[in-house]
Amino acid sequence: VAACFGDVVAQYHAVRGRSAELPAVKSTIRTNSELVPKRAQQLATLWQELDGRHAGGWEGARVLEAGCGFGALAAYFAIAMGPREVVGIDARLDFVTSANRCSQDLGLSDRLRYVQADMRALNRVGDEPFDVVIANNSFIYLPAKRDMLDALAEFRRVLVPGGRVVFYHANLWQLREPFTRSPIVHLLPAPVAKGLAPVTGWKHSHGRVRLVSPPQMARMLRKSGFREVRFGAADRGVVSRRAAYLSRFYATVATAP
Ligand SMILES: C[S@@+](CC[C@H](N)C(=O)[O-])C[C@H]1O[C@@H](n2cnc3c(N)ncnc32)[C@H](O)[C@@H]1O
Repeated sequence: VAACFGDVVAQYHAVRGRSAELPAVKSTIRTNSELVPKRAQQLATLWQELDGRHAGGWEGARVLEAGCGFGALAAYFAIAMGPREVVGIDARLDFVTSANRCSQDLGLSDRLRYVQADMRALNRVGDEPFDVVIANNSFIYLPAKRDMLDALAEFRRVLVPGGRVVFYHANLWQLREPFTRSPIVHLLPAPVAKGLAPVTGWKHSHGRVRLVSPPQMARMLRKSGFREVRFGAADRGVVSRRAAYLSRFYATVATAP
């Protein structure tokens, strides 16, 4: 997984003239290769502890990863977690095309495939329901609350009754912007943050991500019919709800009706 997906990411940047030695490129390659087991295991632990279910219910499950990016995480799930099938979807055709090539090269195409689809309209993933929908660092890329509610309606529609949604993403409730580490820019209205940028040098992610807090996630999930909404973060090795409020990144798990 590390070799195939690491190469894909390196090539993606190479054709755009970006060297694999640039810090940002290096970090994306690592995220999609050597860091994948750690990221997947952390998500699995959070899900398992928040859900109280043994091994997080992977065994024999049909899993949808919404916003799978280059697809390395979905591949690791397929190999290490024992699901029946993993379908990764992403809005980007180039990502799902290269990911499907890796799936084939790794001999996984009977249980791992990638489909170009928008998480707000999942009609391209077929009619067979999923046991779990995972959105790892992807839900916050939806531009507005309406888009988030549309995606939640789709997650609910494609899940079996009692199926789970599992999210992991950056937290709005931080004093520093979770990605750029600049102070408070994410809490300011976009025009103010943009106006301040040239003066202060603070970097913001307005227009790129829509950060949400744990209570905002809970409200949207309940409004969309999900129940048993739980959050947690794995700070200092301990999964706790309190940590979710204060962590840069937090997990949310909820049950479909
Ligand atoms: C930061 S990447 C996360 C990739 C992967 N989940 C991981 O953790 O390695 C976010 C991905 O979400 C995808 N995305 C953003 N909006 C989307 C949408 N509406 N539908 C499907 N994918 C979307 C982007 O194309 C991008 O590949």
